[in-house]
Amino acid sequence: MKSMTYEIRDGSIGDIPFVLDLGRRTIADSRSAYRPAADEALEASYERLIDTVRMQEHVLLIAQAELAPIGFLILVTDLPDEVTMMAQGFVAYMAVEPDARGRGVGSALLSAAEAAARKRGLSHIALMVTEGNSAARELYAQAGFGTERRLLCKPI
Ligand SMILES: CC(C)(COP(=O)(O)OP(=O)(O)OC[C@H]1O[C@@H](n2cnc3c(N)ncnc32)[C@H](O)[C@@H]1OP(=O)(O)O)[C@@H](O)C(=O)NCCC(=O)NCCS
Repeated sequence: MKSMTYEIRDGSIGDIPFVLDLGRRTIADSRSAYRPAADEALEASYERLIDTVRMQEHVLLIAQAELAPIGFLILVTDLPDEVTMMAQGFVAYMAVEPDARGRGVGSALLSAAEAAARKRGLSHIALMVTEGNSAARELYAQAGFGTERRLLCKPI
């Protein structure tokens, strides 16, 4: 496997165009088999997510290669678990450029998010993932995430 040099750094306002662009290009992987929305609807949902996150306390992490950013992760830090009200870090979204995948960038972003959450005194890190998104599900399983609750759906 080709090696690649990159670092994980904190993001800034200048990274927003990259976050919007990569998110729009990857959000289709979160398409539900139960509610198979059109690409435009998924992209709009991603833009709403970014609008919401920008109003919340969050940490933006960027995987930076020599010439360009190749991935990002957004960790929301002011969204407690809705059942226990325990503080947590919540991964709102993450993505890696298609040609940079399979080289540990996603894992590195997740580790950095975990460290950022721990640094802020948060005891857990949580996220939601679409059932059919096998790459993301495997990444999270590999990183030690377990299923806490399930979101069920039935066409009626
Ligand atoms: C999910 C995603 C972030 C993974 O990024 P990545 O940099 O390729 O992940 P890594 O290289 O760090 O992979 C770590 C582990 O995840 C698992 N994994 C990653 N991609 C996988 C794939 N396509 N199939 C199966 N397992 C996969 C593997 O267990 C891998 O460990 P290994 O390389 O030792 O086998 C990337 O595929 C992506 O951007 N997807 C589109 C956006 C998305 O779905 N985001 C998640 C929203 S919840």
